[in-house]
Amino acid sequence: MHIPVMLQETVDCLAVRPGGVYLDATLGEAGHAVEILRRAAPGGRLLGIDRDPVAIARASARLQEAAPGAAVCVQGNHADLGVLADEHGFPALDGVVIDTGVSSGQLDEAERGFSFMRDGPLDMRMDPTRGETAAELLARLDAEGLAECFRTLGEEPGAMRIARAIIRERERRPITTTLHLAEVVTRALGGRGNYRRHPATRVFQALRMAVNGELEALEAALEAALTRLRPGGRMAVITFESLNDRLVKQTFTEHVGREISLQQGGSRWEGRLPRMTWVARRAMRPAEEEVRRNPRARGAKLRAVSRPAGGEESFRDRVPQSTLKTTYTGEIV
Ligand SMILES: C[S@@+](CC[C@H](N)C(=O)[O-])C[C@H]1O[C@@H](n2cnc3c(N)ncnc32)[C@H](O)[C@@H]1O
Repeated sequence: MHIPVMLQETVDCLAVRPGGVYLDATLGEAGHAVEILRRAAPGGRLLGIDRDPVAIARASARLQEAAPGAAVCVQGNHADLGVLADEHGFPALDGVVIDTGVSSGQLDEAERGFSFMRDGPLDMRMDPTRGETAAELLARLDAEGLAECFRTLGEEPGAMRIARAIIRERERRPITTTLHLAEVVTRALGGRGNYRRHPATRVFQALRMAVNGELEALEAALEAALTRLRPGGRMAVITFESLNDRLVKQTFTEHVGREISLQQGGSRWEGRLPRMTWVARRAMRPAEEEVRRNPRARGAKLRAVSRPAGGEESFRDRVPQSTLKTTYTGEIV
């Protein structure tokens, strides 16, 4: 079973209140969702979204037992978070959680093709009912395309070397299984030698992110969720890859914005609406004890923001009366 990462810290960041309305955009096995609904009782509600039909089936059963009638579970892509939230009666939210990446269930299931430790078909789709598999992507891209994918999504320094090795190998026989790919990558990089992690880690990460359009989906989900937060609402995001974390940090930073001092006195805020404030200015990391218990928590980063209780208007209170020239803008200037 998936052990939820930074469970207490994440749900603490949401400051869950009884009767509140919440959205979990990566429901998984409902670890975070169960805790949110426990704290939101009585009267709390939660919309859970996951691309994976297996995860949705398991999470629905678990939530029905833990908090009967309080959760709605929907199979879908959180890139469509806005539409799904509106369709299912969750247009305004008190809290949103996103816990990116794969669940232990997905990783441990050889058939899903996420792991270089288990032999299985190179699939990697979070929703196995649609889209191109990792094997199909590997067979379609040319050397430049493969290298670009490994470089940008996996930050793999040996991207071109690996891409050429894949092209040579697939001329001999198609690469359709996880262990076959892991072996080609390991050989291309000259064995395990200098690597602390498995040499294929970055390539598997890149393929998973490409197959599932992870960055694009996360970007869309962040924007849609922020605009649906009620005043006082909060959002917490857990990431494991630096690319995902950079996107979250950049998006939150733009919504927190900054105060620009004006020559004539007072200040002007520049940023993207809705204006947010940091729950914690820096990313939070799992405690050593958690990493000992659950090594998969290693590398997790938690970032959280909140929408001020009085909405945009509440910021006016911070401006001294003598500087009434202060203006507020909604655009990035
Ligand atoms: C790390 S797990 C979440 C675990 C969950 N927080 C728990 O405690 O059980 C991430 C989940 O997000 C789902 N997922 C990934 N990308 C998604 C997307 N674009 N839309 C919806 N779900 C997605 C995966 O299928 C996976 O089940």
